[in-house]
Amino acid sequence: MVIFGAAGDLTKRLVVPALYNLACAKLLPEEFAITGVDIAEKSDDEWRGSFREMLQEFVKPAGESAHVDQNAWNWLTSRMSYFRGDLNNSEMYEKLKAKLHEQDASRGTAGNYLFYLAVAPQFFGPVVEHLGKSCLTCETGNCWRRVVIEKPFGHDLASAHELNQRILAVLREEQIYRIDHYLGKETVQNIMMFRFANGFFEPVWNRDRIDHVQITAAETVGVEQRGAFYEKTGALRDMVPNHVFQLVAMTAMEAPSSFSADAVRAEKAKVIESIRICQPDQVSCTAVRGQYGPGEIDGKHVAGYREEPHVAPDSRTETYVAMKLAIENWRWADVPFYVRTGKRLARRKTQIAIRFKEAPCALFRYTAVRNPAPNWLLVRIQPDEGIALEFGAKIPGPVTKLGDVRMDFKYQDYFGTAPNTGYETLLYDVMIGDATLFQRADNIEAGWRVVQPVLDGWGMNPPGDFPNYAAGIDGPAAAEEMLAREGRRWRPIG
Ligand code: BG6
Repeated sequence: MVIFGAAGDLTKRLVVPALYNLACAKLLPEEFAITGVDIAEKSDDEWRGSFREMLQEFVKPAGESAHVDQNAWNWLTSRMSYFRGDLNNSEMYEKLKAKLHEQDASRGTAGNYLFYLAVAPQFFGPVVEHLGKSCLTCETGNCWRRVVIEKPFGHDLASAHELNQRILAVLREEQIYRIDHYLGKETVQNIMMFRFANGFFEPVWNRDRIDHVQITAAETVGVEQRGAFYEKTGALRDMVPNHVFQLVAMTAMEAPSSFSADAVRAEKAKVIESIRICQPDQVSCTAVRGQYGPGEIDGKHVAGYREEPHVAPDSRTETYVAMKLAIENWRWADVPFYVRTGKRLARRKTQIAIRFKEAPCALFRYTAVRNPAPNWLLVRIQPDEGIALEFGAKIPGPVTKLGDVRMDFKYQDYFGTAPNTGYETLLYDVMIGDATLFQRADNIEAGWRVVQPVLDGWGMNPPGDFPNYAAGIDGPAAAEEMLAREGRRWRPIG
């Protein structure tokens, strides 16, 4: 495995801790070796040592004290070496190639290579082209060459398309693994199991029984040290065409013909391709943007977005977005999917909430049961991972009254918690060549196609009212109004 961006944050926080967890689970091959490439001057030992502190933090199950398995860590670090290099320099790739071949020869292996691009997006195209020119991506015999590309994949539809063209000029689609870390989350993967491995959800999973769907990805964190990146990105680009659309696709897709990568990805692509594309001048009816001002989270005062480091004092970047999506197919026609995501909201919560149609209630005409609460199915992605069903039940007693009750399955009660950064499955899948949990070129472009008119519409009409929500609440009033116009309400986040 070759990690470009070996001294960066992603490698430290996610990639190496995930490799460590895989080493603990004995899921890495004996001949495994990692070469870390970055511009900084470092020795092998300095590079290995730089992970020590992070490891304590990231390998423990939530709430438990860290226990580093020294054998697994030694096993991994003995296979790690550092290579100083400039990603723009073509000679560097030749030297890297020589080093990798040398390693192969000393280990007596024929060398499958996994190139991990943990680098800034402007390097994705150039690094792949350099790898191609130096023939590091050429597959011979049974040896594979695979490239993992991080997000953000493009900045809009045109740039995503261009990047796809660039890398597909060097690599076959089967060699490319575009990561969306949401797909590494167990609870996201479970949506498919939940729907298709059980007999009783699918018959009601359609426009006959479902009124609407709400998908929320709420965060309490602000932009932290990422102001410079976020200013150019905003909540829509950062979260919607990737993470949020993955949740939409998993919730709305048809059952695939098998669990093979292409069968699953084809069904997911159909969902995103069925979303109605609005015109830029209609965006105000189907999308809401917001930016947080100062406020309070968990009893502590927090600054507004415009006061964050590296953010312009009159910034127009959105930190919140809500959208109404119409999936125009036979299963979902007239069932709106409302999605929202934002920073500095009332609570950290990623959830899919499915609201069922009401029961016909004439039966309860002369009783105290007037307006039974609607039934909801809640798929909690994080935190407190689980699935809950809200329904009505008779309150014991001589008077007929209905109470709202909840059946709740919590992952932790059944399966406990295992140390997991969310990258373990993804890395393992790249090594075994299973691309099911990765984005194909068409999946990525279909997502951008839906958000592009919103970007265009917003670009034409700068927001006049930013900041429009205080940190620590559920988002801007306009998001509530978008649902209220249709006689609906968001479920509270807090
Ligand atoms: C990242 C975004 O892709 O996902 C971040 O760039 C966001 O802005 C993060 O905070 C959310 O991921 P998670 O796993 O914390 O829900």
